[in-house]
Amino acid sequence: MRHMLNPLDFSVKEIDALLSLASDIEHNPPKYAHVCDGKKLATLFYEPSTRTRLSFESAMLSLGGSVLGFSSADSSSAAKGESVSDTIRAISCYADIAAMRHPKEGSALVASLASSIPVINAGDGGHQHPTQTLTDLMTIRSLTGRLGHMTVGLCGDLKFGRTVHSLINAMVRYPDTRFVLIAPDELRIPSYIREDVLKANHIEFKEVNNLDEAMPDLDILYMTRVQKERFFNEEDYIRLKDCYILDKKKMKLAREDMYVLHPLPRVNEISTEVDSDPRAAYFKQVQYGVYVRMALIMTLLEVEKPC
Ligand code: CP
Repeated sequence: MRHMLNPLDFSVKEIDALLSLASDIEHNPPKYAHVCDGKKLATLFYEPSTRTRLSFESAMLSLGGSVLGFSSADSSSAAKGESVSDTIRAISCYADIAAMRHPKEGSALVASLASSIPVINAGDGGHQHPTQTLTDLMTIRSLTGRLGHMTVGLCGDLKFGRTVHSLINAMVRYPDTRFVLIAPDELRIPSYIREDVLKANHIEFKEVNNLDEAMPDLDILYMTRVQKERFFNEEDYIRLKDCYILDKKKMKLAREDMYVLHPLPRVNEISTEVDSDPRAAYFKQVQYGVYVRMALIMTLLEVEKPC
């Protein structure tokens, strides 16, 4: 039995196979409409979500399976003090696979150790968000035709933004990937990513404050929201929340073939005037999220690809 806790749980070859399956699903949805008939997905969301929870549910329904779950800790027995380990042991009696989001780093790992069904990490605190990474990789591959041989700008809250941590982890495995890390000093990338992932893998990267100066060099600009829920101090959040706002004027500095991604939800960091720019790819990204989650569910449940 396999889990998906971290993008590195899958080799590059396995991720390539998963993205190819997701692409086949995108182009031939009826072929996959019954491959999970009789299977159940549990969504265990201890933290708010729109895209991740509903895209998992949409994915399982599109495969012919069914879904059950909870969308907040308050509506589960966590409110009575139940541990994640006991909860997943119970859920293992009800479902064939589980997707779990939790505010504490490492919680998906804890669940996987007590689980008798595959566990998917749907976001654990400020740590990892591997299915967002699969979504991001599919988006980049579909739009540019490649992974690797590119400069990726990551902008905003690089300290608490788990999607950024997962994406860097995954992308350092593709050749000739360079990063420009654009953040205010207080929201720089954590040292374990800088030292243990970027430097340890001899990846070319630079850390800068200025988005305008970085724009002309980028193949991909990955914008992120300042993660209000992870701040200890509201004053700091208010001071930093609008540190970068991507608007039409800034987009003029970018190349014609640069794409803008964002895991969403957006607050102020991308002006809505950018949405109509053909390089704005963040709503396409949402759609790709369903296909990769369909492919991931099939892979973890070891469902045969239909002819
Ligand atoms: N991208 C993402 O994780 O969105 P939600 O918080 O809405 O699930």
